[in-house]
Amino acid sequence: MTISEAKVLITGGSSGIGYATAALLKSQGARVVICGRQADKLAAAGAALDTPTVVANVAIAADVQRLFDEASAAMGGLNVLINNAGYGYMAPLTEIDPTAFEAQYATNVLGAMLCAQAAARHFIPAGGGDIVNIASTAATKGHANASPYVGSKFALRGMTECWRQELRPHNIRVMLVNPSEVMTDFFSQAETPQGRRARNYTAAEQASKLRAEEIAHTIVSMLAMDNRGFITEATVFATNPQV
Ligand SMILES: NC(=O)c1ccc[n+]([C@@H]2O[C@H](COP(=O)([O-])OP(=O)(O)OC[C@H]3O[C@@H](n4cnc5c(N)ncnc54)[C@H](OP(=O)(O)O)[C@@H]3O)[C@@H](O)[C@H]2O)c1
Repeated sequence: MTISEAKVLITGGSSGIGYATAALLKSQGARVVICGRQADKLAAAGAALDTPTVVANVAIAADVQRLFDEASAAMGGLNVLINNAGYGYMAPLTEIDPTAFEAQYATNVLGAMLCAQAAARHFIPAGGGDIVNIASTAATKGHANASPYVGSKFALRGMTECWRQELRPHNIRVMLVNPSEVMTDFFSQAETPQGRRARNYTAAEQASKLRAEEIAHTIVSMLAMDNRGFITEATVFATNPQV
């Protein structure tokens, strides 16, 4: 697609990967709306990006309906969804809290489905559109003490494969991006049995890891391909991480 013709809704655009993707798309002439749950954080991001915002929780169906209505009104339509809102709840099996587990799936799985569903309902009558789901390398390989998050991202990857087959006949490209570790708020926001954790990487360690900008570059490159083709899935690693 031609990026300057893109009308993009990014869920979870108030920081990290969503924010960097909004900035890159805006720099190339796209229209962008971002959402998030925390109104102050979202307003600050919207002001910095000079882009409209909608306070919405993707895990709540009524919020998603209002989000799509307001985003479409703000941009005069909608042809791209970047299904990015998410966070990590990680715990050993013996310590998983069922309430926290359900909340993880409410955002990362139910929320992603509700947004993809709303997007498909826009795109099918319009004759096409793009959906980019942000999963993780945790959608390709499990590891100890992270089954709530890993399971949610495996679920998103599985749903992506189903939606891709359902929507191709409608000229809708359903794509998946699997970032490895990216230096965003994700780690300070991640929930563990010990409470929220801050990862204190040294400057040298951080410099060797992915930034949100590499993921934004991946997403925008995938969107920019001519609509006769599409990249189904892209996995992004740091070249030589020091930790
Ligand atoms: N950073 C990594 O290493 C990494 C690696 C692989 C995959 N990912 C994935 O990349 C995506 C973005 O993460 P990030 O690293 O950019 O983290 P981030 O900086 O913490 O951004 C997360 C964004 O999602 C929003 N959000 C979270 N839950 C939401 C909900 N229920 N409804 C609406 N918005 C919600 C947050 O805003 P509010 O809190 O205000 O709602 C924020 O804008 C996530 O899906 C994450 O799983 C990240």
